[in-house]
Amino acid sequence: MNYLAVKDIDSIKQWVSEARKLKEDPLKYKKLGTDKTIGLLFFNPSLRTRLSTQKAAQNLGMTTMVMNFDKEGWALEFEDGTVMDQGKSEHIKEAARVISQFCDIIAIRAFASLKDKAKDKAEIVLNGFAHYATVPIVNMESSVGHPLQALADAITLEENKGHLGGKKPKVVLSWAPHPKALPHAVANSFVQMMQKQEADFVITHPKGYELDPDIAGDSKVEYDQDEAFKEADFIYTKNWSSFSDYGQVVSKDPSWTISKEKMALTNKAKFMHCLPVRRNVVVADEVLDDENSLVIEQANNRTYAAQIVLKKILDTLK
Ligand code: CP
Repeated sequence: MNYLAVKDIDSIKQWVSEARKLKEDPLKYKKLGTDKTIGLLFFNPSLRTRLSTQKAAQNLGMTTMVMNFDKEGWALEFEDGTVMDQGKSEHIKEAARVISQFCDIIAIRAFASLKDKAKDKAEIVLNGFAHYATVPIVNMESSVGHPLQALADAITLEENKGHLGGKKPKVVLSWAPHPKALPHAVANSFVQMMQKQEADFVITHPKGYELDPDIAGDSKVEYDQDEAFKEADFIYTKNWSSFSDYGQVVSKDPSWTISKEKMALTNKAKFMHCLPVRRNVVVADEVLDDENSLVIEQANNRTYAAQIVLKKILDTLK
């Protein structure tokens, strides 16, 4: 069993329920991972993913090995048949099979280049490992998706909708400005997760920031942020670069920053962001510091999202 994308969740309701039970008793399956090793390979920086996935593995009794592959590993070649006389020292074919001898599960973080849409969409790093490794693979954020984040977000939504008394929540994914070009992975996986939920789901962004139509599908898009925010119960904010003008920052419009005034348009909405976040660019201090901000709890739920995924994989290795 691999966990590569949100589509690998067969029942979001069931997984969220199981993750919440793990949260009540995180060490219940402490023996499940005895004598099992997870290798966490990072091609990009991380705070939450790195620590929460290690914590989850340790809660299950696993041994963890962490490698900053971009700085500590050999530069990998992913193309078949290449004459490797340039900068790349090792082929994914050998690397994945060698690491599989040391680890029972391999988890990978490899962001989009934002330069080559076709290569990014092909997920060459994640799929390279999935193809050549002989052990299960977990996606810790790839070019296209961040399914561990989306699962943590689903847990957080479930924990925080009790006050709605069973009403279908209105959940808004809002683009916000950022000085740098950021990938689409978090937004993509959030959209895919929301497409599995009973919710009134709306995506709002300026023109030019449409997500990959293969992912957005028929999810509702509202180009007027104020209109989208009306009656919202949850505001999930994230920046992403343009998909059509691939990897470009086509707007930094500060009127899209999530402010107290914007939040006042909502139904006392809870605020969500995957972190890290740039204060007073993406979201104003008073929103992030408000009691309706769920960002710290979201980060906490990363452990239980990772733990339910690892538990399900370990169950298949018994
Ligand atoms: N949200 C998230 O994935 O955080 P890190 O990039 O710090 O791991």
